[in-house]
This record gives sequence, structure tokens and C-alpha cells, in this order.
Amino acid sequence: MPIEKASEMGFCTGVRRAIAMIEKASRELGPLETLGPVVHNQQVINKLALEGIQVAENLDQVQGKVVAISSHGVAPQVVAEVEKRGLKLIDTTCPFVRRAQVAAQSLADDGFFVIVFGEESHPEVQGVLGWTKGKGIATLEVPLLEKMPPRIGILSQTTQNLANFASFVAEFVQSDLASISELRVVNTVCDATRKRQEAALELAKRVDLMVVVGSRSSANTQRLAEICAATGVATYRIETAVEVDPSWIGDRRRVGITAGASTPDFSIDEVVAKLERLGQQGGNCGAV
Ligand code: F3S
Repeated sequence: MPIEKASEMGFCTGVRRAIAMIEKASRELGPLETLGPVVHNQQVINKLALEGIQVAENLDQVQGKVVAISSHGVAPQVVAEVEKRGLKLIDTTCPFVRRAQVAAQSLADDGFFVIVFGEESHPEVQGVLGWTKGKGIATLEVPLLEKMPPRIGILSQTTQNLANFASFVAEFVQSDLASISELRVVNTVCDATRKRQEAALELAKRVDLMVVVGSRSSANTQRLAEICAATGVATYRIETAVEVDPSWIGDRRRVGITAGASTPDFSIDEVVAKLERLGQQGGNCGAV
């Protein structure tokens, strides 16, 4: 039985860039701290810790002189505070996230109330909201606003599902178009997210078991698992190979694998190797 990898999966360019920037800074400047985890993946955080790169949950916890912000970006107030404290800043904000921040800022500056389709507590969304200077909210449900502002701007968390974003916008328009004089929609779902979702969907339709590898705190991994499960195929979401359960294989004939944008290659390889071992034991699994 073949094991097939999705045509697009694992580390995205934004995550690779962020890790490379932080490792370079650490080599040149010595030990440094990241403000929150640089990516939502504990295996990557453990590996970076061996290189002297530690996580500080907030600026008060920072012990050294160099602090890096993650690919998720931060609010401008955080950047200002880093500068006020005299810390050297390594800014690894993903260019796609930066684009969403710029869109949020310019909508707010132009007098639009900004609605971010996304998870309110996610660091990226918190950062984007910061660029609206209090003139925005984040939600995954069409909001019931007490008084609908006449000018509305809508954008998305970069890792949301494009189809869900489109449905959200359509539902929002239907909810109270009469109160809105102007609506601007900016599609800020990133390319890497879209490609990983499309590849996962295409593969999930052709296999009878999908294994999705990535951290439980990774928003884009969660989305991949949802997309696969929605096709009706048996879908298991795991962080590491240890969680692969031999009982999943059974008499399933074709296994598909995908992984979130913050999942390192070595985690994916370990999962593939374990599935292959199980397949050989059962006589029916091999990578393609
Ligand atoms: Fe950037 Fe998209 Fe990756 S926003 S960090 S390229 S998932």
C-alpha cells in the first residue's frame, strides 16, 4: 500500500525565512530570545534551544539585549516598547503577515472599521488588530454589531480557509448591507496556506487514511485536518511519529500525509518511516 505525500506540505517560505534569520542573528550576536515561540512547533523550539535561542513569553521576561519577533508579527506598540527598552530587534514577520498589517492600518487610516476573519487570541491576529489602533475586531462568526459602522473593511488571518473567508464575506453582506455605505474586502489568505489546503484536499479525496502532522497550537495544521476530515476520509492529526497508532492501518489501501507550515521536515520523515515500518509488518505500506 503506497504512502503519498501532499504535493505542497510542511515548512512554508515564511517559517523557513524566520528560522534562518534567527539562527543567523544568534550566530552573529550570541544567545537571543524570541518573543513567544518563533513557530508553533515544540520540536523546532527544542532544536533552537540547543543553539541558545530561548523563548520569552513577554518583554518583561527578556533577560538579554536581543529579541526576535516571530513570523506571526506583532502590534506596532510592541515594536515601540522594544525600542524604548533599548533592545535590538530581529523582525522576522512574514511578508504575507506584513501585507495584512499594512492593509489593516490603511483601512483604519481611511476611516474604515476593520473586521479580521480569524481567531481573536492568535498572535498574528492580535498583531494585525494592533495596526488598526483600536478600530477593529477579530471574529470567525458574522458579528452582531450594536451599531453598524457605515464603512467596513474585511480581511483574513493569513492561514484561514479561503472558501470559509468567502462564505464569511457573503454572509456579512447579507446580514445588514442596508447600513453599510462602503465595503472593502482584502484577501490576505497567504499563498502557502492556499496551496497546502488545495493539495491536502486533492489528496484526501484519493486515499482512505489521512495523517496530518503538526503542532496542536498550529492554526494552519488544524485547518488542514478540518479540510481532510470534511471529505469523509479517516483523518488523524498528530504532532510526532510516537502518536501513530498501528490500528489506523487495518485494511486501508492508500495513506496520505500532509503537514502544517510550521512542521519541520524531520518530523514528517519520522512519521513516514513509522508508517512504512508498520506497512512492512503488515505487508502493505510503502512511500511513493
Ligand atoms: Fe507566512 Fe503564510 Fe507561512 S503567512 S509564515 S507564508 S503560512
